[in-house]
Amino acid sequence: MKDERLVARDGPQGDEPAVEAALRPATFAEFLGQERVRERLALAVAAARARGEPLDHVLLAGPPGLGKTTLAHILARELGVPITVTSGPAIEKPGDLAAILSNLTRGEVLFIDEVHRLSHSVEEVLYPAMEDFAIDIVLGRGPSARTLRMELPRFTLVAATTRAGALTGPLRDRFGIIERMEFYTEAELDAIVRRAAGVLGVALDPAGAAEIARRGRGTARVANRLLRRLRDFAQVRAAGRIDGPVAAEGCRLHDVDALGLDGADRRLLRLMAENYAGGPVGLGTLAAALGEEEETIEDVMEPYLLQTGFLQRTPRGRVLSPRAWAHLGLPPPLPAADPASDASADGQAGGAQPLPLL
Ligand SMILES: Nc1ncnc2c1ncn2[C@@H]1O[C@H](COP(=O)(O)OP(=O)(O)OP(=O)(O)O)[C@@H](O)[C@H]1O
Ligand SMILES: [Mg+2]
Repeated sequence: MKDERLVARDGPQGDEPAVEAALRPATFAEFLGQERVRERLALAVAAARARGEPLDHVLLAGPPGLGKTTLAHILARELGVPITVTSGPAIEKPGDLAAILSNLTRGEVLFIDEVHRLSHSVEEVLYPAMEDFAIDIVLGRGPSARTLRMELPRFTLVAATTRAGALTGPLRDRFGIIERMEFYTEAELDAIVRRAAGVLGVALDPAGAAEIARRGRGTARVANRLLRRLRDFAQVRAAGRIDGPVAAEGCRLHDVDALGLDGADRRLLRLMAENYAGGPVGLGTLAAALGEEEETIEDVMEPYLLQTGFLQRTPRGRVLSPRAWAHLGLPPPLPAADPASDASADGQAGGAQPLPLL
């Protein structure tokens, strides 16, 4: 299988792009959950439309697979404007961005995914573009260089990021609307997979939907992907119907446990338990030991583990919570993990030393 991790990122080059496209909600009405975010965005769109003005710039922040790209497309559709899609790493030079900007039409949505990965020099071009709808083009070099100001149509920048904290202050300040997406509740995921099952024509029992919702890692993409894997499993092993037991059995086959943690999650937790007595462990140490990028651990793996209380972040590194020890079926080290002990820690930043087992 090309992509073994259920939480892996999939952009345009992700697996099963046609199915992804079919499952992607196209309107606010089809976008389930994230009630507050959706309500605020729908309101802003309605107001902008009523005034006949372009929408203010929008920043969508949150872990992968919660619907940032989906919302960007919905925004354009609900505004009734075209959308141009690009991403931080794709825009290599200031001139690339200038070319994109100069091709926009009035009111158009420019979607920049992974906006925290824009280079500094490209970001500098974006500032006046966002604020004054103009770019300064430098002609020539050295003493004879001149700048030429080029006016742009009033466009709407919609930017997405998995790490709002990595955005520079000046960039963040230029967004009129900043929305942080939260993990979905089980009830929301339940509704999302039922809708997806309808789109895919899969027979999904309520118990099967509940099972997927519970194991969906709070993430629409993960839940939808689980549904597709279970569809395969049910088709071959269970006459096509996903009921509770079929869902549970299929999840076992795919290494997704009862709380939705996958093999990679458990590898991280087990590494911390077995090699570092539960921590604190520095991010760099974890990355090296797991053979993962630090960014992948921080942006893709950790948010859910932190949110669900398996991991805690302390000034000295990551620490396993009692819940994680229980989930791994391992006894916590003695003395029991005591958050107060962090206060008396000797302040070694990023301390990657295994704790001595007393
Ligand atoms: N609220 C929702 N209701 C139904 N389906 C959703 C919802 N949000 C996301 N999805 C589904 O989840 C998939 C992932 O969403 P999307 O690609 O928008 O996530 P993302 O936040 O952009 O992730 P990344 O950070 O990895 O780019 C989509 O294909 C869509 O089918
Ligand atoms: Mg996306």
